[in-house]
Amino acid sequence: MSTDSNRKVVLASRPRGVPAPGDFRVETEALAPLADGQVRVDVSHLSIDAFIRTALETSGYHGSIPLGGTVVALGVGRVRESRAATLAAGDWVSGPLLAQSVATLPAAMLSRIDVQRAPATAYLGVLGLTTGLTAYVGVRRVGRVQAGETFVVSAAAGAVGSVAGQIAKQDGARVVGIAGGEAKSRFLTQQLGFDAAVDYKRDDVADQLRAAAPGGVDVYFDNVGGPLLDVVLDQIKLRARIVICGAISQYSGDMSRGVRGPALYLRLAERQSRMEGFAVTHFPEALAEGEAALAGWMREGRIRLPEHVVHGLESFGAALATLFTGGHTGKLLLAV
Ligand SMILES: NC(=O)c1ccc[n+]([C@@H]2O[C@H](COP(=O)([O-])OP(=O)(O)OC[C@H]3O[C@@H](n4cnc5c(N)ncnc54)[C@H](OP(=O)(O)O)[C@@H]3O)[C@@H](O)[C@H]2O)c1
Repeated sequence: MSTDSNRKVVLASRPRGVPAPGDFRVETEALAPLADGQVRVDVSHLSIDAFIRTALETSGYHGSIPLGGTVVALGVGRVRESRAATLAAGDWVSGPLLAQSVATLPAAMLSRIDVQRAPATAYLGVLGLTTGLTAYVGVRRVGRVQAGETFVVSAAAGAVGSVAGQIAKQDGARVVGIAGGEAKSRFLTQQLGFDAAVDYKRDDVADQLRAAAPGGVDVYFDNVGGPLLDVVLDQIKLRARIVICGAISQYSGDMSRGVRGPALYLRLAERQSRMEGFAVTHFPEALAEGEAALAGWMREGRIRLPEHVVHGLESFGAALATLFTGGHTGKLLLAV
């Protein structure tokens, strides 16, 4: 590939439902000269995140990508050229690099990462804003799980869910993961050390949850929303906390027309419980503490997060679809 051009993934059409490869197109453009304060970054890996799907709609919390616009994504890469005092050629950085091979942006938008401390991809996974740090603030600041409590997490074999369950386990909770299929259930109990797993693709989900959490649920870390949220609401204890981290079951429709909310929300009143949503960006004061804790646990082997890596910008659409079909375990990444 020429070093003076950029290859970028642009939005070709707004997806209906799960994104399809044809909703995206890869274009090549010449690189513009660097302006003062900017750096040029060779993008190494992209984090394939659920918020990208919401930005493909005409409006949404994370903004809207115009047709023909470069698709948003967080990534890590190496500075090739710098006209900023804070970063030098050779530095590794993370930030909003977008789905492209070469990012040209203000240095102030990037964070330098230490690849001696952890591999670059860990800064998108265990140490990443949308994965480990999201799990950390959701468990510690919102759910506030206590030792001896029962903690249930959905999309448990995915990126945020895997880390959230492992943090709750360290905090002394009984941890139950909900995921699709037997292989993911085995991954949760045999590899991540969860106490039990529930396979939501079977038709006895409520019975499985009752068996896995016989006294009821103290904290539900919800990544999925939809009908599964009602199944768990029906089994909460007195003074339970429902953490609304996300609702991936609802992202593939027209979100501007609304999403399916819980029918059993009155369980909150009946059991003096609360439901609280959050975005990781609401907790800037917790991020340094979270990163230090996660780095320590990772070093000690107490937090594990396998990586599922898809290769090439042409595979971007297929990679994004994987989030919704569940074809990965752990952190989904794209190697540029
Ligand atoms: N609040 C925040 O600041 C914040 C930040 C980052 C992410 N999030 C949220 O965290 C959640 C997880 O994101 P992630 O990046 O870690 O993705 P992920 O868990 O790695 O991947 C999504 C998983 O969701 C499951 N899933 C997809 N559709 C489903 C459905 N209809 N019903 C049940 N499960 C379904 C799939 O696993 P199965 O094979 O088990 O179906 C899939 O592996 C998302 O809701 C995202 O929006 C929130």
